[in-house]
Amino acid sequence: MYSLVVREISESDEQEILSIRNDPLNYKWFFSNSPVLANVHREWFSNRLLDSRFFTLAAESDSQVVGVAYLTTISDYSARVSIVVRNESGNRGVGTRLLNELKHRSKQRGIMSLTAEVLKSNTASINFFLKNGFITESSQQKSSEKIDENVVLLLFNLNSW
Ligand SMILES: CC(C)(COP(=O)(O)OP(=O)(O)OC[C@H]1O[C@@H](n2cnc3c(N)ncnc32)[C@H](O)[C@@H]1OP(=O)(O)O)[C@@H](O)C(=O)NCCC(=O)NCCS
Repeated sequence: MYSLVVREISESDEQEILSIRNDPLNYKWFFSNSPVLANVHREWFSNRLLDSRFFTLAAESDSQVVGVAYLTTISDYSARVSIVVRNESGNRGVGTRLLNELKHRSKQRGIMSLTAEVLKSNTASINFFLKNGFITESSQQKSSEKIDENVVLLLFNLNSW
């Protein structure tokens, strides 16, 4: 049996989360498409620890952090979900457990919907969100210095959940 605990992040998770974030197999799907510097990560992580509103979650298995999930751009109505799972731990339900916990906590806080923005080429992630009840809201071209790609916006309505 794959044992998994989902909990809020703690100070000691900083390096493990950085290593998941900086795995090329993961960051190729991020809009930045690049690894994050340790000091930039530290600042992000410290802010996350301080602000419980963001409820940043870690999934832990056998004393190892295997995934992280959090909300960004939070308003009263909506928040954007980010999830990343350690590559070797994929397809074992880690992402689903993290997403379910985010759904519960968001609903408790009165947030009405969750969104996810995913590169169109990231079919694993699109499948993941669709399997977890999200619907495709739109698909649009996103252009910046780092990307010029189609991005799919997915939506989950917490009111009817
Ligand atoms: C997307 C992601 C979070 C899914 O996490 P996970 O723990 O593997 O997902 P789960 O095991 O809970 O769910 C499995 C479902 O996800 C989808 N999925 C996961 N890996 C997949 C793959 N390699 N190919 C196709 N679908 C895949 C499928 O729908 C699968 O269900 P199925 O096996 O019945 O078809 C993970 O692949 C990841 O971290 N990707 C890189 C970062 C990213 O793209 N994040 C999302 C943007 S916010």
